Amino acid sequence: METGLRNRAAIVAASSKGIGRATALAFAAEGANLALCARNAEALNQVAEEARRVYGVGVYTATFDVADDEGVRQFADSAHRHFGRIDICVTNAGGPPAKPFAKTTLAEWDSAYHLNLRSIVSFAHAVLPCMQQQRWGRFITITSIAVKQPILELVLSNAVRTGVLGLVRSLATQYGPDNITINNVGPGYTATDRVKELAQTNAQATGRTVADYEAQMVKDIPLRRLAKPEEVADAIVWLASERAAYITGQTILVDGGVYRGL
Ligand SMILES: NC(=O)c1ccc[n+]([C@@H]2O[C@H](COP(=O)([O-])OP(=O)(O)OC[C@H]3O[C@@H](n4cnc5c(N)ncnc54)[C@H](OP(=O)(O)O)[C@@H]3O)[C@@H](O)[C@H]2O)c1
Repeated sequence: METGLRNRAAIVAASSKGIGRATALAFAAEGANLALCARNAEALNQVAEEARRVYGVGVYTATFDVADDEGVRQFADSAHRHFGRIDICVTNAGGPPAKPFAKTTLAEWDSAYHLNLRSIVSFAHAVLPCMQQQRWGRFITITSIAVKQPILELVLSNAVRTGVLGLVRSLATQYGPDNITINNVGPGYTATDRVKELAQTNAQATGRTVADYEAQMVKDIPLRRLAKPEEVADAIVWLASERAAYITGQTILVDGGVYRGL
């Protein structure tokens, strides 16, 4: 399948590990140049090095926290100067802590809002004007299956990430006339550090072993396994490709069938 992504410039946020990393490398495999970020340099530089060595694409990297609006703006400006364009922006970040509602603090609510909703607003402010000038763009948010089917222990994620859906639908309507598509990808349980961390926290909180918790998680997935990060990345790359040019305002779940709704 020809994706039409060769020589496109793609921002992939929070891309040193997990789903972000797999997405960056999947774009590189299609010949897209990359602007990557994370808070820590070491793993990020390894991804950049792999993309250059294996796929021969250009890579720009920066280290900052995506909750920092000024950091996002400077990153997007530098990426634009570096490649002369920004065609694709995939927003991503870490997830908020897993805890029951009664144990959450207002500081954690503020922080979840900054990390998982406001950071997307920052990226949208930073890249959409440039995509408008190009009259071509793909803006893709990574959220979670929690936006369709809340996860009991993730109240912060359930509440804050649904705001992203409202944003995605609003932007899709507003920026469609500029030939920019705006979509959301909701991963289900995916084999990354984040899911290991959640398994540990939940096992501890419920007095079960991590193995028990993980077995229960897999039992609830119709496909009976976790997603590979590369499988989430494939959906993102397809949404960015010419093949998905008429899809906008949508949420695509990559969840092995966990969401039971119609
Ligand atoms: N894995 C799952 O099962 C699953 C399911 C549904 C939704 N999700 C969501 O999908 C997103 C990605 O998850 P993942 O599983 O790929 O996580 P992961 O393997 O833990 O990787 C997280 C990546 O984000 C970077 N990062 C974290 N916080 C950041 C920040 N404030 N600013 C910049 N970069 C940041 C990390 O690098 P640094 O630490 O160096 O910053 C790392 O590269 C998360 O929001 C997660 O909640 C995951």
